[in-house]
Amino acid sequence: MIIIRRTEQRDLGKIHMLMNGNLDKYFEPSVINFFFMQWPAGQFFAEDVFGRPAGAVCCSVLTGGRVSISLLAVDANHRRQGVGGRLLDNVRNTCLIQGYTTVQLEVRTTNFNAISFYTKRGFVKSEYLPRYYDDGGDAFRMVCDVRSMGRIVEQRT
Ligand SMILES: CC(C)(COP(=O)(O)OP(=O)(O)OC[C@H]1O[C@@H](n2cnc3c(N)ncnc32)[C@H](O)[C@@H]1OP(=O)(O)O)[C@@H](O)C(=O)NCCC(=O)NCCS
Repeated sequence: MIIIRRTEQRDLGKIHMLMNGNLDKYFEPSVINFFFMQWPAGQFFAEDVFGRPAGAVCCSVLTGGRVSISLLAVDANHRRQGVGGRLLDNVRNTCLIQGYTTVQLEVRTTNFNAISFYTKRGFVKSEYLPRYYDDGGDAFRMVCDVRSMGRIVEQRT
């Protein structure tokens, strides 16, 4: 069983390790702390019943009022079990409650699993960002209207 709850200060060390173990770029602890301080309501943590981390999402509010999904990772042993989707559901609910209407993120053009994940939840590619990453990798910016964010059920015609 995986529990999803709002991130607390005591989780930040675990989230730092989780992000650096599952994302392809190193982040300083101060980055995780920055998101937590900037928008505490936009941070969610997934853990098993023993308190072991299963996933986390760190969001921020951008100038102009869009919400950014800044860091999202699910531990490899817990992927494709809906944990990432549940983390996003919590982000969506917080946005709805606080009146934010648009969510955006950047994803590597080669990260097909993540692009599939976001596309199935209503995100669309809005921009191609060449050499967006420090290593020269390209990104897509993806955006979603909060009201249509969530699992999209494929319809048969
Ligand atoms: C992207 C990520 C957060 C998804 O989390 P998750 O808990 O596995 O996602 P869910 O179980 O809620 O949703 C699964 C969906 O994600 C996509 N997906 C995730 N892993 C996939 C894989 N190995 N192969 C194909 N599709 C995959 C699919 O669309 C899948 O839907 P399906 O099961 O109907 O095919 C997770 O794979 C991850 O942490 N990846 C590494 C870090 C990363 O890339 N983060 C995003 C950076 S922008």
